[in-house]
Amino acid sequence: MLQPMTETTLAAARTPIKVAILGAGRGGTALLDLLHLIPSIEIVGITDRNPDAPGILRAKNLRIAVSARMEDLVCNHGVNVIMDVTGDPAVERFVHIHKQPITEVLSGSAARLLWELVRHEADLRAELFHAEKLAGIGSFAAGLAHDINNPLQLIMGLAENLIEEPDVKVVREQARDIIEAVRRTSAICRDLTQYARKASVHDDSMVSLNNRLDEALKIARYAVSFHDIMVQRDYAEVAEVRGSADEVLHMFVNLITNAVQAMEQEGGMLRLATNTSPGAVTVTIADTGCGIAPDILGQIFEPFFTTKEPGKGTGLGLYNVKTIVTKMQGTINVESRVDHGTTITITFPRATENRM
Ligand SMILES: Nc1ncnc2c1ncn2[C@@H]1O[C@H](COP(=O)(O)OP(=O)(O)O)[C@@H](O)[C@H]1O
Ligand SMILES: [Mg+2]
Repeated sequence: MLQPMTETTLAAARTPIKVAILGAGRGGTALLDLLHLIPSIEIVGITDRNPDAPGILRAKNLRIAVSARMEDLVCNHGVNVIMDVTGDPAVERFVHIHKQPITEVLSGSAARLLWELVRHEADLRAELFHAEKLAGIGSFAAGLAHDINNPLQLIMGLAENLIEEPDVKVVREQARDIIEAVRRTSAICRDLTQYARKASVHDDSMVSLNNRLDEALKIARYAVSFHDIMVQRDYAEVAEVRGSADEVLHMFVNLITNAVQAMEQEGGMLRLATNTSPGAVTVTIADTGCGIAPDILGQIFEPFFTTKEPGKGTGLGLYNVKTIVTKMQGTINVESRVDHGTTITITFPRATENRM
């Protein structure tokens, strides 16, 4: 009997709490950085007397509205909570006089307490991120040993020949081969040390999805065996999103690793695709593996949910993927049929170059 196709989609929550931030210094910037990651919070705007305050620049990069006049935010009917981190008693008085009756105000040590809590949570999340990546790197050992051993064997053979080789021309040629083999080994080490470093979570630049997919493919090859797995790539000419290159790479390594692990038994086809439309950029990672049973489909994004044996899975891969996609204001859709395969489609809003 043909297994039914099941599907799940993660998208932003519906009715968010609308927040306005007064003050774009250190406190305001930290609030902005953390609150914009939370789907149930919408930052209506931020304001500061200083147009070059760090939080103002950050807001422009995140495409969050910046108000030149504080009263526009304070009097705004759509704001549920005003967070005043200016520390300025004049601002506090102004807010209490001019705010809408239904708007609540968090200021002084209450605002500080809140950002201490949120920052603590963000630190934990960053640690979890890194821990998951390092756990994954543990499984690289076998692939890595193999890939480093090959050029080492070659170097050994060439060096042995050199001892007996009288012809200087041949000696030079073999020396060049040795250098080439050493270069290959160094490239492997460079890829992995770059991947292993802590992702720079505040990076915000144009990231090429095609390039990140290719890079992720290289790294995933150390983690899982691609034996009997064909790879098909269908890329749009240019597919760019705004975000952190490290995080996008980490996300793709996780998704490709999952896809290949799902095809471990019988081999299959891994398809990587990017597409663009006027408003969106999509990435598709599809496998022809074991599929996901409908009764667990709703749980795969939960932290520590895994069906893999210890050592193979941490259950944090998709949880981290979800965190990154949400941060980038994207959505992720999973379509799966048991014994036929899984297709993961991530849709990002189309990035624009027009940073202010
Ligand atoms: N492409 C896939 N095919 C089949 N099952 C998958 C796929 N991707 C994820 N899963 C399921 O979702 C679970 C959670 O995935 P993940 O969060 O990456 O954790 P882990 O891979 O460490 O188990 C997996 O254990 C597996 O059961
Ligand atoms: Mg995984």
